[in-house]
Amino acid sequence: MTPSKIGVTGGAGFIGSHLCERLLAEGREVVAVDDLSHGTTANMASFMQNPGFRFHQMDCRNARELRRVFAGCDAVAHLAAEKIPRYGGALQTLESNVQGAHAACEVALSLDAPVIVTSTSDVYGNATPPFNEEDHVVIGPSTTRRWAYAVSKLYDEHIALAMAEEKGLRPAILRLFNVYGPRNHPTWWGGPVTAFAEALLDGEIMELHGDGRQVRTFTYVTDTVDGFVRALDTQDAVGEIINIGADEPITMIRLATAIQEALEIPGPLRAKLVPYEKIGGRYQDVRCRIPDTEKAARILGFDARVGLSDGLAESVAWHVERRRLMDAGSAGGSVSAA
Ligand SMILES: NC(=O)c1ccc[n+]([C@@H]2O[C@H](COP(=O)([O-])OP(=O)(O)OC[C@H]3O[C@@H](n4cnc5c(N)ncnc54)[C@H](O)[C@@H]3O)[C@@H](O)[C@H]2O)c1
Repeated sequence: MTPSKIGVTGGAGFIGSHLCERLLAEGREVVAVDDLSHGTTANMASFMQNPGFRFHQMDCRNARELRRVFAGCDAVAHLAAEKIPRYGGALQTLESNVQGAHAACEVALSLDAPVIVTSTSDVYGNATPPFNEEDHVVIGPSTTRRWAYAVSKLYDEHIALAMAEEKGLRPAILRLFNVYGPRNHPTWWGGPVTAFAEALLDGEIMELHGDGRQVRTFTYVTDTVDGFVRALDTQDAVGEIINIGADEPITMIRLATAIQEALEIPGPLRAKLVPYEKIGGRYQDVRCRIPDTEKAARILGFDARVGLSDGLAESVAWHVERRRLMDAGSAGGSVSAA
């Protein structure tokens, strides 16, 4: 019942590497694939030598090769994806996410294994918070580039559910809400926590989009990974869409303040507002993004446990340590782990 060998796409990425680490710590086997477009081998350094772990650098859209390396897996977790094309790259986002999910679902079907399809809170667009899995989604116009990500993930959800109905696939769809923590990509690709921390450590000013009063909830990565593991181990998750998120809302301005405080940089707030027009792609924001977590609690027994202040402390400590290792590396030392 409980999967013992899991194929993970996007295993060298932020969330994927934490998922691999947790599964290996539980004594399970993991086969990870990643094309290293945004992930790194450093993310996997702490478990690369684990005898239960195998890594293959490859494009997960190659279904034939994916089937070969995932042979013997009794579950698949599909995380490989391109994220919000804030500054360009919508075509890559659409093609990669649509084709990647298709390949992962085909492979899971051929293995007769359940599959976790990783979706996003971005699919709700500007729905009315708190976002419930049954809600209508409110996506902006196609002329706004950022919605390409949400639409690609909605396609992934539909493909998985259609393959369930018509071919017997066993998918569980997880809609993740802003994840943060160590190993997150140190640019806007990793979202505001990492972008703000890196800006401050560079001695620069944090950029808050729009008026900075958007509301988000942030989920520490170990909590998100706990949601994945519970979904892998819960038969009742099959066929369901489930929000995985924390419910501690915060505005971007408050988040920026908290990160500056966590880095012990005295005030005033080192931030500036960036008008949406400056972002390009006819950018539109989501004003308030809060999950309804009732379904995750009911089906998975999931409850985010790491509070924002503890999670931010861990995150900024990682950013500081990452720089220390980079400096040591450039001074002749070796940079081994991230
Ligand atoms: N981080 C968040 O806040 C968040 C929120 C909602 C949903 N998600 C979803 O969670 C998943 C993981 O996101 P993440 O934050 O860890 O991002 P990430 O970029 O760190 O990880 C994604 C990984 O996929 C790899 N990849 C991309 N395309 C690939 C391909 N075609 N073949 C093989 N590997 C490929 C990248 O190299 C990267 O390592 C994604 O599906 C993302 O859409 C993340």
